Amino acid sequence: MKAIVVPTFTNPPTLRYEDVPQPQIAEDEVLVRVRATSVNPVDTYICTGAAQSWLNLKLPLIPGADFAGVVEAVGSKVKDVKPGDEVYSYSPLQRLGAFAEYLAVPAAIVAPKPPTLTFEEAASLPIVALTAWQSLFEAAQLKAGQKVLIHSAAGGVGTMAVQLAKAHGAYVYGTASSGNISFLKELGVDTPIDYTSTPFEQVAKEVDVVFDMVGGETLMRSLQTLKPGGCLVSIVGGSANPEAAKEAEKRGVRYVYVLVRPDRAQLQHLNELIAAGKLRPYIAKSYALEQAGEALAQVATRHTRGKVVMHVP
Ligand SMILES: NC(=O)c1ccc[n+]([C@@H]2O[C@H](COP(=O)([O-])OP(=O)(O)OC[C@H]3O[C@@H](n4cnc5c(N)ncnc54)[C@H](OP(=O)(O)O)[C@@H]3O)[C@@H](O)[C@H]2O)c1
Repeated sequence: MKAIVVPTFTNPPTLRYEDVPQPQIAEDEVLVRVRATSVNPVDTYICTGAAQSWLNLKLPLIPGADFAGVVEAVGSKVKDVKPGDEVYSYSPLQRLGAFAEYLAVPAAIVAPKPPTLTFEEAASLPIVALTAWQSLFEAAQLKAGQKVLIHSAAGGVGTMAVQLAKAHGAYVYGTASSGNISFLKELGVDTPIDYTSTPFEQVAKEVDVVFDMVGGETLMRSLQTLKPGGCLVSIVGGSANPEAAKEAEKRGVRYVYVLVRPDRAQLQHLNELIAAGKLRPYIAKSYALEQAGEALAQVATRHTRGKVVMHVP
């Protein structure tokens, strides 16, 4: 089969499009003919070696996590997924392998692909939508009527977080640069904030939840916007920031770091929101798999609106 192979860690990444053996499945796994995949910032860290401190992956490796495709074969113990099923999910980061024609993944993590979406649209969702869901509703316990500040609202995770928060009845502040302000309004953000001209803490005050995916001084300044008892959720930096944790305690607010995990039940719930017209994908650019280098370079700019996807011929 064709796949993208990383033979060594370099920056920019060395990505070879070559023939490799098809993966074998274990008894609790499914073999998926990948029809589309998408690129997340973590793929860029993996391919350059920047993620080695926490993932410790072996070379050569086939990168890629998000996928949508058709089940080709199932292991002997798999009862709830069958060949021909259209599915989507993401391959755990310790396994990866989605930048390829075929992928072996545990059956327990795949969900039916939302029928109204194309494979590319479906592949754009798993990591970003699950991250947004787990951050807003598991970690922060966001409630209807509460105020949430979502940083990086025009990005992959941000576009999902805004739609999920609005569907839940929250009031949303969102940050982006000038060129994305009208996009934020279209997305449903109640109060867009141009971070290039306005300090967000002058606009967003006494909020219940901040969802940060920028980090650094944005993370620290975000603490000032929270009301007592509020919650700052962060997903950047690989682990919790001790300085932010200390400052949060001083201010009487919660600070939580979230690392996304695959979850079939949550993907099924997201399917219901998609069917109800409450959640939709935003695709910035689509590439062929063999153009993975260009796709990763686009994501590495950190200024993509929505998602970068790749179709797998
Ligand atoms: N912990 C986890 O489990 C987990 C899961 C998923 C993602 N993440 C991390 O979360 C981060 C975001 O992921 P993503 O997929 O959403 O990335 P992304 O799609 O590449 O984000 C791009 C967006 O970031 C915005 N942005 C850049 N600098 C900004 C700033 N200073 N303030 C506000 N917005 C800014 C850009 O808007 P403008 O062009 O308008 O600036 C752009 O729309 C990444 O670091 C990723 O690794 C972590």
